[in-house]
Amino acid sequence: IVINMQQKILLCSPEFFTVSYSINPWMKGEPVCQKTVMSQWLDLVVAISAAGGKTHLIEPQDGLPDMVFTANAGVVHEGKFVVSNMKHEERKRESAHFKEWFELNGYETLSVSHDLDFEGCGDVIVHKGNMIAGHGYRSDVLAHKEVANLLGLDLIDLELSDPRFYHLDTCFCIVGDNLAIYYPGAFADGEIEKLEGVLDLVPISEKDALLFVCNSLKIHDTLLIPTSQSDVETVLNEKGVKTQHVDVSEFLKSGGSIQCLSLRL
Ligand code: ARG
Repeated sequence: IVINMQQKILLCSPEFFTVSYSINPWMKGEPVCQKTVMSQWLDLVVAISAAGGKTHLIEPQDGLPDMVFTANAGVVHEGKFVVSNMKHEERKRESAHFKEWFELNGYETLSVSHDLDFEGCGDVIVHKGNMIAGHGYRSDVLAHKEVANLLGLDLIDLELSDPRFYHLDTCFCIVGDNLAIYYPGAFADGEIEKLEGVLDLVPISEKDALLFVCNSLKIHDTLLIPTSQSDVETVLNEKGVKTQHVDVSEFLKSGGSIQCLSLRL
């Protein structure tokens, strides 16, 4: 019997989203249009539901503009939630709100040593007993070691080397059962090779990477991708990946896109 569990996604409304500080190279202070922000985010909510996902919401907080990027809240695995220690002061207050949400919703909440940086699913993907992680900008390897221990997963930690792709989810994405896309230029020499034999890897162009194609989100058999202009889409379609476009371009002004805006529960 195959039990097809509905994919659950935690989202946070962008009511208080803005670009008022700069903690990554994408945050140049370009003004965001509040109306476009809200309509793009609502399009994402609709697309997740249409693909068969169930959306859950956490209350946004005034003064925490990046809380909309729920991927960074922590890592969820089998009823456990390991809460993030955000690297930058500007985001540190988000964690208490996420911890509270997970406690109220019946998760066992865990944490890593307070002096270690850890930005949750920005830098971590759990895949079949492996914890694939990225470090170099936002999360410490030692934090990932603690998380892998807490969750009983085998750690494969990859060093990132391009500040434009400061989180693993900006340059690497699992798009099929055993299929992943990645942007080669974002990884230090020899790092991506650690995944050979674990996943089939398809490299994408710099153009696609800058369109945040690696920040796509797989909901059941649909891959939600943030652009209709990507080179790799037809390659993925030929490999049997069904794609759907969701434009969240306003959020790119903060260095985030579809996957950053969502957290798998
Ligand atoms: N402005 C946010 C930051 O720099 C964007 C976070 C994007 N999230 C992600 N999972 N890549 O922290």
